[in-house]
Order: sequence, then C-alpha cells, then structure tokens
Amino acid sequence: MKLKTAILQGDGIGPEIMEQALKVVRAVSEKFGHTFVHEQGLVGAVAIDKTGTPYPGETHALCMDSDAVLFGAIGDPRYDNDPKAGVRPEQGLLAMRKQLGLYANIRPVVPFESLIHRSPLRRELVEGVDFVCIRELTGGIYFGEKGRKNNGNTAFDTNTYTRDEIERILILAYEFADKRRKKLTVVDKANVLESSRLWREVAQEMAPRYPHINTEFMFVDNAAMQIIQWPRNFDVLVTENMFGDILTDEASVITGSLGLLPSASMGIHTSVFEPIHGSYPQAAGKNIANPIAMILSAAMMFEYAFSLMDEGKLIREAVTASIKENIVTEDISSAQPYRTSDVGDWIAAYITKAEKTQL
Ligand code: IPM
Ligand code: MG
Repeated sequence: MKLKTAILQGDGIGPEIMEQALKVVRAVSEKFGHTFVHEQGLVGAVAIDKTGTPYPGETHALCMDSDAVLFGAIGDPRYDNDPKAGVRPEQGLLAMRKQLGLYANIRPVVPFESLIHRSPLRRELVEGVDFVCIRELTGGIYFGEKGRKNNGNTAFDTNTYTRDEIERILILAYEFADKRRKKLTVVDKANVLESSRLWREVAQEMAPRYPHINTEFMFVDNAAMQIIQWPRNFDVLVTENMFGDILTDEASVITGSLGLLPSASMGIHTSVFEPIHGSYPQAAGKNIANPIAMILSAAMMFEYAFSLMDEGKLIREAVTASIKENIVTEDISSAQPYRTSDVGDWIAAYITKAEKTQL
C-alpha cells in the first residue's frame, strides 16, 4: 500500500521526536511491504519565522493532498509571555484543525504496566484503567466570537455550539463505545451553561438509538474529580472543546508520563496524528525528549488512517518492550537515561527483527 503522509514537525522538540517516528514508520513499511512517501510542511513558530504565518497555504495544500498528517509539536517561549503578540504559533494548530475539519480529537488513556509505579495515583486505582477521551475540536469557546469592549477593559469569548456539531461528535463517540465496553459518559456543565443544555438535549434524543450503550451524564467538575478517584469507571468520555482540553491533560498524568500519550484528530479531511504533549522548548535540540508519544501517534496513524492494524500492533509491541527493557529517556529513568535517538533506534530495530509470523 502507498502511504502518502505530510510531516509537520513544528517547534521545540518536534523535529527530533519526528525523526524517531520516521525511523519507526520506515521500519514498519519495509517489513510489511508498504511504500512510505512523505513531504515536510511548515507549521508553528518556524512557519511564522519563514513565512509570516503559522499555517501557510502551502502547508494546508500538502495536508489536503496527503492521506495522513504526522504532527510534532507547536509553541515557542518567545510568544508565551507576550499577550499582545499579533500572530502566535498556536493559531497555526487551530487553523489546521478548522481548515481540515478535524472535529474529533481522540486521546486514549492506557497506562503501561511497567510504569504504573510512576503514576501520582496509587497502583490499585491505576491498574486496569483503559478509557478514551473524545474532545470536540472545531467549535465552542476556542472558535466563538471574541473581543474587547469598553476601551479594551472588558474581554469576552463566546461558547457557541450548533446541534449539527454536537450530533456528529456524539455519533463518533457512540461508534467508539460500541466497539468497546459500551459505556458513554457525556460531560457538560448543563446546570449552568446554555450550550451544555443543548449538548445534553441532543445526547438525550440520541441515546434511545443506542439502547445497548449505557449513556451517562456528568458535570465537568464532577468528572474532573472522578477521573482521579475512579479512573477505571470510564470507557468513552465525550465533551466540548475546552472541557476536553483540560480533562485530557488531567487524564494524561494517570499513566505516569505525559511523554507517552498519542492522539488522533479526525473529521472531514485528512486526519492528523500528534502527541498530546507540547513543544518542551527547554529540551529542544538536546536529544533528551521522550519520543514515545510521537511514535505511538504513528501507530494510531497506521490503524486509523490506513486500517493497518497489524502494523499498529507491532509498533505498540515494540514500544512496550522498550519500556520493559528500560530503554527510556530521562523523564522515565533519571538514573540511566537513553537519548531520544537511542530510543528511536531501539524501537525501529525491534520492528525490523520481529518475526511477522508472531503477529
Ligand atoms: C492541545 C493544546 C492546544 C489546545 C493548544 C496548544 C492551542 O493544549 O492540543 O490540547 O488548547 O487545543
Ligand atoms: Mg491541551
């Protein structure tokens, strides 16, 4: 199969973790006889530096013309403490999501057995945790009307959702629940927000169409608590853009390292696969960042964009083996850390050596 992929490495540690993911994708493609074709595009602060805009039209055209997008990270400290900056790297990510119609962000939360001791939660709470957060990604307060009034002394951001936007993300969430343990938790703030009341109304109308799925409703504050207290109780959690942003960062620490979690963003056009961590500028160029979330994002790319399940499975197996053998970066093993490139080399070599018949 021909795998035509756009590579957007972005800022900070983006380029070095992407390099590891590319080694892995090449190793898998070679093993299974796929032709991996890829082209680089600019995004984020590097794109602003070179073109003046964080998501240039050329990058968008490349994404539209590809079957999948691998995305590194975005963000640069030059902009973080400057609320007046006219153009920001993050706008590139938001523009990409909007223009590609990526209305669903999928973030699985599954701990690695050999890292459970690193979780801030007790082992008995973390063992067996396996849930998926589905975050609406192109609506809500991120994209609603915003501005200043009163000579700049009053600021507002509007949280707007339409029935269609809510319905399409719920359909996707029900499909996930159907393939999993058949439980869907719809998270909102319907006791306060009108937009949340529309979410709940739409979900209540849809629930009878999925009688075999247990639909439950939860206020976001309560969900924030329950994710920490009983993470095993969740199967599929679906929520609006901003609540999803916050809850997925919270959920990610359960697994023991933010550097481990991948995500997929899907919708109308080409799907994007990216780690959930940021650009970690302090580590950029030092060959110390954890490449695993990026490598697991490539595994999700094989599974979600190309329906190549064995390929994804082999990448996961290689990653699990690397962690078990302690071939890990300093965020996981400060005593004897491996470098970013060592971890990438080890995982790619594992894949090359694996017997295909074992799968
Ligand atoms: C994420 C990030 C982004 C978001 C930022 C970088 C704009 O936090 O993907 O979760 O808020 O969506
Ligand atoms: Mg976030």
